[in-house]
Amino acid sequence: MDKIIIEGQQRLSGTVDISGAKNAVLPIMTAALIADGETEISKVPNLKDTRTMIRLLEIIGAKCSFSDNNLKIDTKSVNNPEAPYDLVKTMRASFYVLGPLIARFGYVKVSLPGGCAWGPRPVDYHLKGLEKLGAKVTLKNGYIRAEADQLKGAEINFEYPSVGATGNILMASVLAKGTTIINNAAKEPEIVQLCQFLIKMGASIEGVGTTKIIVEGVSSLHSANIEVIPDRIEAGTFLIAGALLGELKLNNVIPSHLDSLASKLREVGCNLKTTNSSITIHPTDKLNAVDMTTDVFPGFATDLQAQWVALMATANGSSIIKDTVYHDRFSHVPELNRFGANIKVEKNTAFVRGVKSLVGAPVMSTDIRASASLIIAGLIAKGRTEISRVYHIDRGYEKIEEKFRSVGAKIYRESQ
Ligand code: EPU
Repeated sequence: MDKIIIEGQQRLSGTVDISGAKNAVLPIMTAALIADGETEISKVPNLKDTRTMIRLLEIIGAKCSFSDNNLKIDTKSVNNPEAPYDLVKTMRASFYVLGPLIARFGYVKVSLPGGCAWGPRPVDYHLKGLEKLGAKVTLKNGYIRAEADQLKGAEINFEYPSVGATGNILMASVLAKGTTIINNAAKEPEIVQLCQFLIKMGASIEGVGTTKIIVEGVSSLHSANIEVIPDRIEAGTFLIAGALLGELKLNNVIPSHLDSLASKLREVGCNLKTTNSSITIHPTDKLNAVDMTTDVFPGFATDLQAQWVALMATANGSSIIKDTVYHDRFSHVPELNRFGANIKVEKNTAFVRGVKSLVGAPVMSTDIRASASLIIAGLIAKGRTEISRVYHIDRGYEKIEEKFRSVGAKIYRESQ
């Protein structure tokens, strides 16, 4: 298994091009299944997760070709509406085939995703929503089967604005008969882009980007092309690294997607300058400790919580970091403490007491964003850090070592 090696405390400076968003492209790829034809998606990040989704689409019967961040999906021969356990267990986003396949075939069989490194992560909202649309949903041998001759529009009230459940119900409802109203829908930019793609395919959707989405069912969709929005979490990860380590300019970003992070970075003492499509961060040498609570968009993203904890590890003073989206998402904390950080976790809150400096250590990554926090800690720390299990980072960050190296970091990969 590969390791990432970092020699810390190098000043960073330069420009980084941000890739297309993982969490936007994955549902777009499955939405392509609703139509019969060829879809072309540009700015597709070359990640383990996008390659896993390509494999899944191929198992379902689609023909895919992927080169230079351009993905073509031909869905004419799609004939197998099933997502096997082997793929779903490596990537929960495989569950995004549920909505599109029941919409197109009236039948779908998807392995029930298990828990993950930070807790149970249920899919009950997806299933209850489908039942509301008239599907018969059963669980057998670890697989969810959903069937409906014709889905029917309904009013669905999510207890919590789940990103995945909003995406799945949207994709299921575009071909349902009549009107579907999704209350307490997710407003994340990735859901907005999914709506825009479905509209390009011929869907009728109102309330895009609000908590009330109204879908008027149509009889069929046609294929369409789209360019993936920039990855706000990758951008946020580089901004957090820049806060202490040097001036970084990020190209290919949508600054408004990063407002919550930007205002927190200003509170810690950094200066940020934005244009329409770039953000430049000027670091601070007196890092203030700043509390943070994650929330749904436009709040502070849970996918940047681990990186924020790493930044606060050497801040001046103590900070309290609460995750209201995923209550157990703190597997990075014991690893950050191996660098000499002083962090305690109680329930859904990390209490960080800033220390003078971190010292490099061998550490292990446990999920995508936890890995990113370990890279940030390794870049801040004195001496050598060795991060194992880096396959987690390869799921969600395109060429991360190359990008950090290009701005002056000493970071490389060792294949074992
Ligand atoms: N929830 C339920 N029941 C459900 C669905 C969700 O209780 O049926 C709960 C979850 O347990 C969680 C909360 O609702 O406490 C929010 O979960 P959500 O469904 O919004 O998350 P998701 O769709 O599974 C996506 C991203 C995650 C990101 C979250 C929150 C993708 C592929 N994944 O997950 O991204 O953390 O939204 O923004 O879009 C990552 O990229 O590293 C990642 C984990």
